[in-house]
Amino acid sequence: MSRVGVAFRLWPRTFHEEEASMSAFEHRTVMRQETIESLAVGEGTYVDATLGGGGHSEAILGAHPGARVIGVDRDPLALAAASARLDRFGARFTAVHGAFGELAAHLAARGLQRVDAIVADLGVSSPQLDDHARGMSFRGDGPLDMRMDPTRGETAAELIARLDDEALADVLFQYGEERRSRRIARCIKRAELDGQLTTTLELRRAVIRAVGPARVGGVDPATRTFQALRIAVNRELDELTTLLAAARDLLEVGGTLSVISFHSLEDRLVKRAFADRLAWAPLTKKPLTASDVEQAENPRSRSAKLRAARRLDESIGPMSAMRLRAGSRRDGEDDDGEDEG
Ligand SMILES: C[S@@+](CC[C@H](N)C(=O)[O-])C[C@H]1O[C@@H](n2cnc3c(N)ncnc32)[C@H](O)[C@@H]1O
Repeated sequence: MSRVGVAFRLWPRTFHEEEASMSAFEHRTVMRQETIESLAVGEGTYVDATLGGGGHSEAILGAHPGARVIGVDRDPLALAAASARLDRFGARFTAVHGAFGELAAHLAARGLQRVDAIVADLGVSSPQLDDHARGMSFRGDGPLDMRMDPTRGETAAELIARLDDEALADVLFQYGEERRSRRIARCIKRAELDGQLTTTLELRRAVIRAVGPARVGGVDPATRTFQALRIAVNRELDELTTLLAAARDLLEVGGTLSVISFHSLEDRLVKRAFADRLAWAPLTKKPLTASDVEQAENPRSRSAKLRAARRLDESIGPMSAMRLRAGSRRDGEDDDGEDEG
């Protein structure tokens, strides 16, 4: 990915920069094997709702010679990189530019009413974070953008300009679980009014002005603010809520949904959706986590939690569904007891 350093430019980039960033699109797929096993479908039509670099799609297509994958991503650069990587699978792979919150429409446009499996590996990819021109990270300077899809929607700078102190504080509190949200929001708005809030490093400085610098070896004080704004800009929790509801209609009975989340706000939504035992038979008793080896090799995998569930036939009625679940519990594979969430 092109590192932008001190000087940065807004989109669009030159053709050569596009090419360079595509060829260096490096995202290490998290829990690759566990995801394939959790999908438990075999042949059939899969949706990879978060195509990214195409790692999970590649694993599915490689593992099941009769499988077909519809890969969805909001990020045109991810789509281009994954399409190049998956080119060898020919017509078995279809790339779709768009949000997974609109999955039903994307499938309908391709003549599909139902699919056999859906996988979602949430959040952002490493190239999105590492390319400072996208404005998602405080580790380098870039415009205050943060959009996964730079072709549409409001940027972080526009969002901050639209919100007043209180509404901004609410965003930081809700999506970043930031306890000092009011103080930080006030400092951010002051910087904006002073014309000192156009870059990621200026945003970080505003946070530090509010709460003080990082302690040596501690978490950067801007971490929660950046997470919150990125979630708000991309409406990440709304997207996930819509996907979880739509998956009930889009999956064949017996089909599976597998979701990897990276923070408790997302995991809570997945856990709640799967708690509807008329619709879902959980396939993961507790959320699966990455192996020690993977966690050592890929720090990003340390916060990953994978939950999977099989779509039940709601038309058979609650009593039959309960009997089915009781049978599953005896098999010891489908019970999802309360966990730490
Ligand atoms: C963690 S990466 C996926 C990596 C991929 N599984 C792999 O192995 O290479 C998440 C991807 O999902 C995309 N994404 C996140 N939210 C999305 C949404 N609501 N709709 C479509 N794509 C989304 C991001 O643009 C990013 O490319």
